[in-house]
Amino acid sequence: MTEAQYKVPKGLAGVSVTDTRISKSASDGSLVYRGYPISEIAANAGFEETAYLVLNGRLPTRSELGTFTRGLLSRSKVDRRIFDIMRGLGKGSHPIDVIRTAVSALGSVDDERTVQEKEMSIESKMSVLAANSRRVPRGEAPRGPKEGLGFAADLLQMLTPKEASDFDRWVFERVLIFYMEHDMNASSFTVRVVASTQADPYAAASAGLASLKGPLHGGANEAAMEMLLDVKDPSKAAKFVDSAIEDGRKLMGFGHRVYKAYDPRARLCKGYLKEMLEKRGEDDTLYRLCDAIEREMWERKKIPPNLDYYAAPIFYLLGIEVPLYTPIFAAARVFGWMAHYNEQVEENKLIRPDSTYVGPSGLKYAPIEKR
Ligand code: CMC
Repeated sequence: MTEAQYKVPKGLAGVSVTDTRISKSASDGSLVYRGYPISEIAANAGFEETAYLVLNGRLPTRSELGTFTRGLLSRSKVDRRIFDIMRGLGKGSHPIDVIRTAVSALGSVDDERTVQEKEMSIESKMSVLAANSRRVPRGEAPRGPKEGLGFAADLLQMLTPKEASDFDRWVFERVLIFYMEHDMNASSFTVRVVASTQADPYAAASAGLASLKGPLHGGANEAAMEMLLDVKDPSKAAKFVDSAIEDGRKLMGFGHRVYKAYDPRARLCKGYLKEMLEKRGEDDTLYRLCDAIEREMWERKKIPPNLDYYAAPIFYLLGIEVPLYTPIFAAARVFGWMAHYNEQVEENKLIRPDSTYVGPSGLKYAPIEKR
């Protein structure tokens, strides 16, 4: 029996599994997309521009951006058969299950030819599927994008009928940009494993969605909002955090494998949340509640909030239903997934690790009647 050469820590913590040129997060609280600090991108770039950067490794010219944006919009029409499948799943279905099933079915229904066209089709349709992942299984008519609005504003109008101000739309676009890519997160690694078997982008995206469903990854933004709604009052933050720690419960929206001091995306979103409330002239209880729980967690556990913690109240203010928060994550992250798919395929080696067998050996087979 040949032995594995290396034994890695549980959860591959601290292990670099590949070289990548797409993005990098680091424990000092930095994050770069293709070499650009996230704060630089957040201050200057739009969603499509950032998606082009993440996918192609450089910022687009005006004409490249136009072609990319039109390419996405022209592929946003979802075949009726996909909506029929979503409807058939019924109103009790989890939105991520609905999107995952739809993307999987898209692999059979889509007639795109090249890998790049298939990827654009998935990227474009994912936001339509995300926005309709509750409506259609409930029997409501699907909502579609409107020409000329742009990816982020379009997704927002499909998600909620609530009218958003220009600033609110700008903030939503930033949050989508933050959700777009994050180096070797669980779902991107999953996508790379599937890509390494030479499966198509539909298979890889469906697998990414499966991995995103869990509360330790994509599901955390919904759980964080439910927690905030549950605590309600900033003066109850200390008691709440104490009892969670005492019960050994994890607070969703806190902690990160890489960011141990702070998550730069959460820090930016916290500022946006404050500004949204100020610009609206609304009561700032939600902001004070977030801040109070954050302070208590830091004081007691030295664990900072992550993106999900501050994305959730932003989505809430925008009037988006809580079960649609993880679908939004998916609609943005799919661009990162496709960048990882391409990078994996370009320099492919089947991802097939080894394991250390710690079970029994040499057992004698017992016939069923003798067990
Ligand atoms: N609440 C309470 N304690 C926590 C939390 C938390 N949210 N996160 C970590 N800890 C504690 C954990 O109990 C452990 O304590 P001890 O050493 O005493 O056992 C210590 O911190 C280290 O935690 P870990 O789970 O071993 O750290 P990790 O790097 O494996 O976990 C994590 C990272 C994100 C899975 C974890 O922090 C977590 O479960 N957070 C809550 C879920 C969440 O918000 N997920 C979204 C992550 S960011 C978006 C994304 O990339 O998907």
